[in-house]
Amino acid sequence: MAPTQYKQILFNERPADQINATTFRTHLAPFAALVPGDGEVLVQVTYLSLDAAMRAWMRPVKTYVEPLAIGEVMRSGGLGVVLKAGKGVKLREGDLVSGAVGWTEYGVFKESQLRLLQVPTGAEALDFLGALGTTGLTAYFGLIDVGKLKAGDTLLVSGAAGATGSLVCQIGTILGARVIAIAGTAEKCKWLEEELGVETALNYKAADFKERFKKTLGAGFDVYFDNVGGEILDLALTRMKLKARVVMCGAISGYNSKPVGLVNYQTIISQRAELKGFIVYACSSFPHPTRTHTFPVRFRFDYAAQYPAALADLGKWLAEGKLKRKFHVVQGIEKAGEALPLLYSGGNIGKLYVSFPSLSPLLTAY
Ligand SMILES: NC(=O)c1ccc[n+]([C@@H]2O[C@H](COP(=O)([O-])OP(=O)(O)OC[C@H]3O[C@@H](n4cnc5c(N)ncnc54)[C@H](OP(=O)(O)O)[C@@H]3O)[C@@H](O)[C@H]2O)c1
Repeated sequence: MAPTQYKQILFNERPADQINATTFRTHLAPFAALVPGDGEVLVQVTYLSLDAAMRAWMRPVKTYVEPLAIGEVMRSGGLGVVLKAGKGVKLREGDLVSGAVGWTEYGVFKESQLRLLQVPTGAEALDFLGALGTTGLTAYFGLIDVGKLKAGDTLLVSGAAGATGSLVCQIGTILGARVIAIAGTAEKCKWLEEELGVETALNYKAADFKERFKKTLGAGFDVYFDNVGGEILDLALTRMKLKARVVMCGAISGYNSKPVGLVNYQTIISQRAELKGFIVYACSSFPHPTRTHTFPVRFRFDYAAQYPAALADLGKWLAEGKLKRKFHVVQGIEKAGEALPLLYSGGNIGKLYVSFPSLSPLLTAY
């Protein structure tokens, strides 16, 4: 039976530093108002993706997207199931879709803003928000295009037990690199070494970190995939081989506070190194085996035209069991605001999601 009301989480107040209890507020909206018009569908959201970049969207400055407006439904990618299709729509009831759904239990969306999904062999629906979504594409293009990783290279990865970093480590191994990982707990380091197969994982919170870092890096790295910026980036700049490449993916250490400046940057000159940024921001899809129609997606971000080829590789590696993932799932949309800070405290292992425990029977297939 349809509910009378549904929950949305609104962006309520710009945090000065850490996300807190007043950053978001819950809004109850009438379900009866959700009527899909021409070219629209009603979607029940099943999973939300929580991403480190969300903190950057809260600042009152334009980045690669507009800043969040106060009162806006919190922006996020998610998965959902089509409950009702409006006129002239190709999507059907029960279709699994992904899109920028936001923190809401239900919503009416333009069909053109959604992607029809079919879970490929070896994958799960959640992979469309992970290995087969923005996260996987970020790891893929960061390593292959920005980092120009070659077999035999030494690859250093920070934020290595997170969503992006854990895929970077494994793609690095697939491409024949020697992988050295940095993460914030002994448990994460154990997972990286014993299950993901990195050569060495270093705990940056351990007292002997700098000493172990220097010893392990030895002659230095060819590629550093930087997810964290700040002090770890500065330390890494002291261990670059000649013509090293630093993949500037993210700088999470500076998202909640004033970023720390670099001191060791003169090595960039002496080592003829390259530091390069890039942005992947994808609404993921995967070729549907029987439904040939696709929906237009506006490609505004780096590499968008190359997504299909990258997804084919990522899908193949998943099917071959070469990409292991941890799904860190927090239950209930009302917990999303408490769960998001886990990314900044290091409370997550692998990809962080919010699930909706009260699924209707229609949705249990997913
Ligand atoms: N350029 C792009 O297009 C793009 C796309 C996606 C993501 N990103 C970036 O990739 C990075 C990872 O994002 P994600 O969504 O995959 O999150 P994630 O890695 O799953 O989670 C963030 C991790 O960062 C680590 N961390 C937090 N604060 C830290 C600090 N001060 N110093 C060192 N490590 C810290 C934590 O692990 P520990 O326990 O190890 O501290 C935490 O688990 C972010 O910087 C994000 O902005 C960039």
